[in-house]
Order: sequence, then structure tokens, then C-alpha cells
Amino acid sequence: MTSVIVVPVLAIDGPSGSGKGTVGQLLAQRLGWHFLDSGALYRALAVAADAASVDLGDKPRLAQLAVDMDIRFVPRGGGDVVDVLLNGQEIGDRLRTEESGRRASILAAVPEVRRALLQKQHSFRQMPGLVADGRDMGSTVFPDAILKVFLTASAEVRAERRYKQLKDKGFDVNLRRLLDEIRERDARDAGREASPLKPASDACILDTSQLDISGVVERIYGLLQQRRPG
Ligand code: C5P
Repeated sequence: MTSVIVVPVLAIDGPSGSGKGTVGQLLAQRLGWHFLDSGALYRALAVAADAASVDLGDKPRLAQLAVDMDIRFVPRGGGDVVDVLLNGQEIGDRLRTEESGRRASILAAVPEVRRALLQKQHSFRQMPGLVADGRDMGSTVFPDAILKVFLTASAEVRAERRYKQLKDKGFDVNLRRLLDEIRERDARDAGREASPLKPASDACILDTSQLDISGVVERIYGLLQQRRPG
């Protein structure tokens, strides 16, 4: 008799600024699991489209670009900092700008693009496990995840977190503008037809407005222990 080994997935979804990236990375480290920042794939596609002068309205070319793009996450010197290589070139800070996030959310609404990125996302599912962060990890990409968490926080709290993050990185930012951008992105991500931003029906919803990062990590780690066999 053959037995199939299923690689466990922890899906963490939520809107931008809900803390899912930081929380996901910490949990992946603690569990010794791989980590997928699926938003980085959409952002990288936005950077690739810009470099190839592909219009965000050109769906067939965007989908082809998504299939063709070679994206790698390479830990720098084996440490915590990860270099993102797009077709062999480090795209680092370009990926994290608000403009890349805005452009990513436009092309993420294209169903052909989402389909093209599906296989890339599945390829991250490797032993001993995967923590996947995004908008549709639990609802669409890994529907059989052993635990699905949906993090939320008010738009104001998320804008402040983003403001601090970007300020710390030396970016010149405006809180009011960030809040407007977050609201605009929420509306686009939640309003699209293909995999809209919404919790999977079996997701645990966690409001992080009043919790710090370690509190959220502990909560999710505890939930995961309850789900794991043995
Ligand atoms: O998470 P991050 O802010 O990097 O994602 C950028 C954009 O990519 C999001 O606003 C969203 O539109 C899109 N995205 C998505 N599905 C995912 C991850 C990100 O549609 N799983």
C-alpha cells in the first residue's frame, strides 16, 4: 500500500498592514517551515510589467509574463534578510514601494494572472511544511491547509503600522495618504470577482488591532498545535 505524504500548510490571509507578513515569517522560523509571501509574486509581476513596458490593461501579455517570470527568494548570507531575484536581478526595495503594491492590486484582479501564478505558489509547498501569506491562501490556493487564519485590523491601525515601517526604512511618507491608499487597495482587493479578499468559510478570524506581534504569533502557534496530529 502506498501512503501519500501531505505537506502541511498554515494559511495566513488578510488585508495589507494586518501584520500577516511579519507574523508569518516568525511562525515559519519557529516551526522550521518554508515561507511564501504570495504578495511578492504579484508585486514582482508589477515590476516585470514595468520593465517590459506591458500595460496593466493588457491581460494576455500580463498572464504570459507571469508564466515566464523567474522569481527566487534567496536568504542573504544565510540570514533573515531575503533578496528577491526577478529573472536573476535583485529587485529588493522596488518591490516594497506603495506604487508596486498599487500596481500589484490592479493586475491581481485579472483572473488569467491569478491562474498563471497558481502553480508557482504550489511549488513552495515542500517538506516539512509551508506558512503561506496572502489574500486567498486558505480560500483558493491551499484549500486543504491544516489551519487558516484571517488577520484583520482597522484601516487606521494598519496605516499607522505601515507608516512606521516605511519611516524606519527611511522612506518619506504621509500618514493621510497611506490611509487613503490602504482604503483604496482594500476596496479593490475585496471588490474583485477573482479570489476577492475575504476569509475562507473555515478560517479563524483574528483582530490584531489591540494585539502586538508576539501575541498574535502565540495565538496562532497555539491553534496550530491543536490541529497537528501527534
Ligand atoms: O501583500 P501585499 O501587499 O504585498 O500584496 C500586494 C497586492 O497583491 C495586494 O494588494 C493584492 O491585490 C495582491 N495579492 C493578491 N493575492 C495574494 C497576495 C497579494 O491578490 N495572495
